[in-house]
Amino acid sequence: MATATHTKSIRIVITEPQPGASDDLQDRLSEYFGATGAGNVDVLAVAHDGLEAAQMAAQLQPDVIMLDEAMPGMSGYEAAMLISLAAPDVASILVVPSERVHDNEVIANAMRAGVRAIISPATTTEQLVDLLETLASIVEARERQEYELITDPAKMPVTISVTGAKGGIGKSMTTVNLAASFAREHPGQVVLVDFYGQYGNVALMLDIEPNYNIAELASFAGELDSTILETHLVTHADTGLKVLAGSPGSAGLDGKLTPEEEIAFLADLIGLLRRHYRFAFFDIPPLIGEASKYVFTRSQYIVLVSTLTDLSTVRDTATFYRQLLDERIAPERIKLVVNRYSRNNELTVADIQQATGAQVVHQIPDDPQTAIASINEGSPAIITRSGSPLARGARELAKLLEQSMDEERQRRERQQA
Ligand SMILES: Nc1ncnc2c1ncn2[C@@H]1O[C@H](COP(=O)(O)OP(=O)(O)OP(=O)(O)O)[C@@H](O)[C@H]1O
Ligand SMILES: [Mg+2]
Repeated sequence: MATATHTKSIRIVITEPQPGASDDLQDRLSEYFGATGAGNVDVLAVAHDGLEAAQMAAQLQPDVIMLDEAMPGMSGYEAAMLISLAAPDVASILVVPSERVHDNEVIANAMRAGVRAIISPATTTEQLVDLLETLASIVEARERQEYELITDPAKMPVTISVTGAKGGIGKSMTTVNLAASFAREHPGQVVLVDFYGQYGNVALMLDIEPNYNIAELASFAGELDSTILETHLVTHADTGLKVLAGSPGSAGLDGKLTPEEEIAFLADLIGLLRRHYRFAFFDIPPLIGEASKYVFTRSQYIVLVSTLTDLSTVRDTATFYRQLLDERIAPERIKLVVNRYSRNNELTVADIQQATGAQVVHQIPDDPQTAIASINEGSPAIITRSGSPLARGARELAKLLEQSMDEERQRRERQQA
């Protein structure tokens, strides 16, 4: 853990089980700070037994409390346990005889009681000051963006996979428009991963020229970090959407990775994406393999795209849907969407609902003019043809997803309350 240099003084409570036992410690600290002139330690109070120590921790809320292993009335472990419940922000340091500092039983008991550090009388003043500064700075992690991510349901990252049972049914068209739509609403917070797809698809639809793709990123498997990830993303100028381009090859992520390494890479990738972006969209080809299964299980929503143009697409969609359920993906997370919807469709919404057993949540109209023009121009319909039926359909789907997220957030807030 990094040690922050404290400008304000560190507030501590110390214990003195026998009269005068803490004199040495207090002398050492004041001598140290007198000599260095840097920062300070403010001894708020001296406790004389375990109960008093726990009481002072709860009432004075110091940054750190030093507890002796053996204190009159109440052991250091018991006091630490009560403090961790009553005043979780107070860091407990347990002082044990030198020969017991590395004792496994001491360590196990201390951890159970919520002790943050174990020291002995042999710990040097420098080491102790360093430890006090480290412990006192832990609460500063509340300022971090990640703290908000875990505590604020509104900021919880969401992963959305868009997939389907067939090629050429508009999965990429849907993903690009959805992601672009979200990117406009949430500037800088949206990323789109072209998962295994043909290089051209997403990049072409957005008219961007990526320098790197997902396969090249996968060659960093095992050492992936935020910087490496960012250098592999390209920004879509009109929307600020970040894109990880697909691999030009068809051999999966990286021919050199074992299936286990591939999943580990995906775990790292999703972990980083979730940390840095609120919305991650994955455009996933019509294939249920170990890698896509992993992404599906990590997705809060799976947009399952189908068409009503022929029976085989509807049947394959039904099979795909069942396979997703077999992966124990909750049905409410799967959003069945009919693309290229028109009166001329061979089949009906009722047909696909019957075949799959799922509700169609939305239809995107058949709009070949807009679809073709937007691909040729390399600009999502929701940007340059915002009044078109296709754009309206995509925007409504985006709204519908946002609604589901809102409902989920309200549910969590109710649980928190
Ligand atoms: N709503 C729509 N109306 C009319 N045409 C559409 C619509 N959506 C997609 N298309 C057309 O369907 C074709 C395939 O679209 P897209 O590339 O998005 O499909 P896909 O499912 O991603 O295909 P693949 O499996 O090859 O990745 C495109 O040429 C596009 O113009
Ligand atoms: Mg595609």
